[in-house]
Amino acid sequence: MKKQMKTQVWHVDKHVDEKTIYTQIVDAAHLIRQGEVVAFPTETVYGLGANALSEHAVEKIFEAKGRPSDNPLIVHISDLDQLPMVAREVPEQAERVMEVFWPGPLTLILPKQMDVAERVTAGLDTVGVRLPDHQLARALIRTAGVPVAAPSANRSGRPSPTTAQHVLVDLDGRIAGVVDGGSAGVGVESTVLDVTVDPPMILRPGGITFEQLKEVLSEVTVDPAIARDTEAPRSPGMKYAHYAPQGELWVVDGEPEPARERMLELLKSASEAGLKTGVLATRETADWWKQQPSAGLVLSCGADGDLSAVARELYACLRRFDEEQVAYIVAQAFPRSGLGAAIMNRLEKAAGGRVICV
Ligand code: TXA
Ligand code: MG
Repeated sequence: MKKQMKTQVWHVDKHVDEKTIYTQIVDAAHLIRQGEVVAFPTETVYGLGANALSEHAVEKIFEAKGRPSDNPLIVHISDLDQLPMVAREVPEQAERVMEVFWPGPLTLILPKQMDVAERVTAGLDTVGVRLPDHQLARALIRTAGVPVAAPSANRSGRPSPTTAQHVLVDLDGRIAGVVDGGSAGVGVESTVLDVTVDPPMILRPGGITFEQLKEVLSEVTVDPAIARDTEAPRSPGMKYAHYAPQGELWVVDGEPEPARERMLELLKSASEAGLKTGVLATRETADWWKQQPSAGLVLSCGADGDLSAVARELYACLRRFDEEQVAYIVAQAFPRSGLGAAIMNRLEKAAGGRVICV
């Protein structure tokens, strides 16, 4: 059993004065410089950060998360002037998207600079880099003075954390500290875009949509493995079961009426089998579901017409089913355009492929 450590929590909300915030960020940054692991908010989800130039520090991330070592990490920079510390060269198409979407939820796969720890990239010659659009994240990285490798701050396989509380549920006692800056913004992770190939390829859908990228790059493709589970994905992290609640999750995709019928059938047989059931619904459908005795715990995740609200609330809902020990969960599907591509990608992974099309 790994020795437990005391996990420090720095509360940095808008009611705290700037001097206190500054002292707290300096404390957290100091720990990163010392080779410790610290969780912090970004505009997507909470990240688990360590000095990207230190093998030893990065190793602690894998240990704390229980993450497979062949899954590379994203390196976060505070400002563009840190980019040469991480990337060997920046292709022209990378510059174009950086100009429009950085700071923001877009990770670029670039040729790796030698100084980046081997463990960060799992031995690959490329590195994922991102400039987050979050003042606390950037202040922390700037103060640490080193690029910060950071995966999502969850135990491997669990839904990503969108609050410091979620981080503590998974990692209390396993990491040096967490900067609590309130809820993360977008709610799903950054888009991973490989700009070492021409045309650039989306390896993971996320906060910056295909449609947005298409407007800036004349051509952009999507890793075929995202749509078809049979191909080996180019982004190593995409092959793992992920984001999963403890209960068995089923996603039902199709027209509202038949989808609802099918969801109801599944819930009835699950509750007849004595399982505690739950439904991932939306503001529009939650009331109807609450009237169905077999539905169990009904959680409303955003609104049908507002995918950004769904993205923001998705992981918190999945975690809530775990808190209530729901054993069988049924979710409706969402449109796959815009942010819906990322939402459906995460839901399908969370369901471990249990998707029914009606
Ligand atoms: O929004 C985000 O991206 C969050 C916050 C904390 O920044 N981070 C995050 O990291 O989601 P993580 O480790 O959970 O996911 C990183 C993804 C994985 O799918 C990984 O395989 C891929 O990026 N990746 C990283 N480096 C890569 C590389 N060199 N080539 C291909 N894929 C890479
Ligand atoms: Mg993750």
